[in-house]
Amino acid sequence: MKPENFRDLMRLVHGFEAAKILLVANDLGLFKRLDPPRGAAEVAGELGVDSRALELLMNALTALGLLEKSGSTYRNAPVAAAYLAGDSYRGHIFRHIHHCWESWNDLAGVLRRGGPDLVRESVILHDEEDWNRDFIRGMDDVTRDLAPQVVTQLDLTGVRRLLDVGGGPGTYARAFLTAHPRLTDVTIFDLPFALAVARERLEGCPRRDDVRLVAGDFNKDTLGDGFDAIWVSQVLHSQSEAGCRTLLAKAAQALAPGGRLLVHEFLLDAERTQPLTAALFAVHMLVMTAGGRAYSGEEIAGWMRECGLVDIEVRKVSDDTGVVQGRRHCP
Ligand SMILES: C[S@@+](CC[C@H](N)C(=O)[O-])C[C@H]1O[C@@H](n2cnc3c(N)ncnc32)[C@H](O)[C@@H]1O
Repeated sequence: MKPENFRDLMRLVHGFEAAKILLVANDLGLFKRLDPPRGAAEVAGELGVDSRALELLMNALTALGLLEKSGSTYRNAPVAAAYLAGDSYRGHIFRHIHHCWESWNDLAGVLRRGGPDLVRESVILHDEEDWNRDFIRGMDDVTRDLAPQVVTQLDLTGVRRLLDVGGGPGTYARAFLTAHPRLTDVTIFDLPFALAVARERLEGCPRRDDVRLVAGDFNKDTLGDGFDAIWVSQVLHSQSEAGCRTLLAKAAQALAPGGRLLVHEFLLDAERTQPLTAALFAVHMLVMTAGGRAYSGEEIAGWMRECGLVDIEVRKVSDDTGVVQGRRHCP
């Protein structure tokens, strides 16, 4: 919301306190310990933290609407019970965001240098297992509801073989196979640590045999060939403009004649100032990557034209994201 007065500015700036409280509580596994409801001292003993400090944190979580307090006992509010505890836990994405906080702390340094010191998002450059697992499982947390909604809007008439570049946890692969029964072969191309998560997440998928996992680095390896469609979702933003051009050219080469390239991103408008999610995400990529940012639909469409793709279209597919689509010329 656009700040209009000093009070709004203060509310904006204080936002970090609520975020930090939630992120630390999630890291501690606090929400997972409140079924049945418990007192702060008991939970503090189990977590090995100071009981007075935890009580203050839990009171603030109550004020935020994440806990409910009755006497000296706390229980999860419905939203915390739904997403931060139990089988439907989606806190990996919050753990990932908390890992990124360290890089955000250096925003002023990033502005001076033009980029981060630690290239975290360039996942090849670090091998911290927790960081990587939370990142990829976090992608599943975020896309579990979104993927089915997005893939049903895509025209995949005649598509049998689909390549999902940077397919991460396999959430889109699963959604494609559910929504498009004529697909017979979905290949997820990603780095080995991401495929390890995909393997786990795809267990029990009714069409598991139709998914292939191919380990590779799209900056070094080729993507294969003869695909009827290639899906590149939330990948370009981690690459520089030159990296995007190279990756799209590689993808265009991997298409069968008439095949479609579909790029899914937080798309900026032509001014690159809206929507808010994309403009903030551009800064996130500034602090996390060497050369990445959010892009506009027109920038991506232009790179597709450079690759010789035709019938290029840009369209919104969710509140925050859009798809840029192009087709390899069919002689
Ligand atoms: C932000 S996630 C997006 C995951 C998924 N496509 C989605 O939309 O939710 C970026 C994905 O790109 C993969 N990736 C990043 N660099 C890569 C590279 N050089 N080669 C292959 N995959 C890469 C990451 O491992 C991760 O799965």
